[in-house]
Amino acid sequence: MKIQWLAENFFVDPAAVELDMCSWQHPDPQQQRVLDGFTENALANFPLPYSAAPNFLINGRLYAVPMVIEESSVVAAASSAAKFWLDRGGFHAEVWDTMKLGQVHFRWAGNTERLRSLFPELEDRLMRDSEDITANMRQRGGGITNIELLDFTHLEPDYYQLRVAFETCDSMGANFINSVLERFATTLELFMTECAGLADTERDVEVIMSILSNYTPDCLVRVWVECPISSFSELAHKQGMDAHQLAERFATAVRIAGIDPYRAVTHNKGIFNGIDAVVMATGNDFRAIEACGHAYAARDGQYRSLSVCTIGEDLFRFELEIPLAVGTVGGLTALHPLAKRSLEMLGHPSARELMMIIASVGLAQNFGAVRSLITTGIQKGHMKMHLTNILNHLGATEEEAAAAQHNFQDQTVSFSSARTFLEQYRKEIMMRIP
Ligand code: MEV
Repeated sequence: MKIQWLAENFFVDPAAVELDMCSWQHPDPQQQRVLDGFTENALANFPLPYSAAPNFLINGRLYAVPMVIEESSVVAAASSAAKFWLDRGGFHAEVWDTMKLGQVHFRWAGNTERLRSLFPELEDRLMRDSEDITANMRQRGGGITNIELLDFTHLEPDYYQLRVAFETCDSMGANFINSVLERFATTLELFMTECAGLADTERDVEVIMSILSNYTPDCLVRVWVECPISSFSELAHKQGMDAHQLAERFATAVRIAGIDPYRAVTHNKGIFNGIDAVVMATGNDFRAIEACGHAYAARDGQYRSLSVCTIGEDLFRFELEIPLAVGTVGGLTALHPLAKRSLEMLGHPSARELMMIIASVGLAQNFGAVRSLITTGIQKGHMKMHLTNILNHLGATEEEAAAAQHNFQDQTVSFSSARTFLEQYRKEIMMRIP
């Protein structure tokens, strides 16, 4: 019905559109119902490639990492960087903390000191009133870990905030946090209404909103790779450099991303090429991860690179520190059929382990991109993949594609040059047919 209505009202060839949409639906209606259940007005499924990047040695364990991404070369670059580090001890990772945050924003016209003096009693009541919601999470070792009362009245009249910290174990915890916060809002209103000794005007609390914060700077993971600089000899010699020159050039490129926001955004985009792809594949929320990561990159007031490279006496070290609020239970992770497979591919990791895997892919992607940029440039690898897309678009046969790949080995690829090559090649073949 929906498809028919849209096709008839918004497209030139309704019959073709209906066929197209239907062809992108799951053949099993049961499975399609699961996917349709994720959003409203679902018409079909929007396919993106689902790939695996092998060779990831992280804290001594080998992974093949699932990635959902449409951009050419990303999976190839991740796997190749992972392979490079596989022979050099792999990735080392540690989770610093997994603290999630939520806020109740409210207005209250009264004496700030009075509110502060009431806070210990209010805090007690907030914890008690939300016990039914937190019971399960507490049993799993999580729950509410801290409540703060913050005064913002110097910035906005009568504006205060409850900033609440949570431990949500292996779940991302968005529904849990929001449910607790909404209960807090009700308790706050009731508490002030019932509180003894307040003036009538002080009994009114206006809750503006209660919602988790996607800025989780303490849900932090650190991942690094390191090796003797001499380890770069082979790569460096191919570029006519020595190992130290190559390592220095790499470190300079990373420092530039720490200085200049125009470069930093592109540099970090490269990191998120890897991060988003694994976040998507595991059914996590890539918008939340991106928003938080970019805010973290600007935490000192200027937007900077998320990664850092240091060069010691004979040691090259490349490190990424990034907040990643992800889950491995609940939400889409349990519903999306391929997200479930992704977690299985990773050996059913805990949220902490997944944070370390995702950060490693981000660092690998960053390493791969910067390595290309300071040596061959990225277009070489990129265009090779791009050529495949162009050839598919032009309907090239396997034989034609092989001839084109051979021809463009050392030539610049563009859509028109690929088309001209194909036309020429087809003519030559025709002429050869007796
Ligand atoms: C392209 O998607 C990502 C890069 O631009 C990242 C970078 O410049 O570091 C290659």
